[in-house]
Amino acid sequence: FTPPKETGEGGAILAKDKLGNPIPASQILENPPETRALVAGLAGEPTYLIVTDANTLDGRGIVDNCTHLGCTFPWNETAEQFQCPCHGSRYDAEGSVVRGPANRPLKLVHVAVIDDAIWLSPWTETDPRTGERPWWV
Ligand code: FES
Repeated sequence: FTPPKETGEGGAILAKDKLGNPIPASQILENPPETRALVAGLAGEPTYLIVTDANTLDGRGIVDNCTHLGCTFPWNETAEQFQCPCHGSRYDAEGSVVRGPANRPLKLVHVAVIDDAIWLSPWTETDPRTGERPWWV
């Protein structure tokens, strides 16, 4: 018996559920477009995966860790925002700050689906939302 490989190139890891089991992409894609689904990501960081209008997973995952003081936060589907319950920071659907006190966008990770497995890997390139070097690198 060979356990399935759980780490890939470039520090990639498989997205897992809260029990630590890898989550197949097809399971997340049962949700409607624009869903933000929470998985355990890199270093166990809770990470939102985004279901696109084309019923695929977006190549960007958003780390559920407020850039103010690190609280985790829910996705508010009605307001289409991530809303931090700790001090009221709000982020848009892409993780850019809409309202402080947070002043940095949410961290991104790469998301890739290979044979229904979801691979997450560190985002080290330019942050497409700011056009700048990511603050977390
Ligand atoms: Fe989120 Fe302070 S930790 S607003």
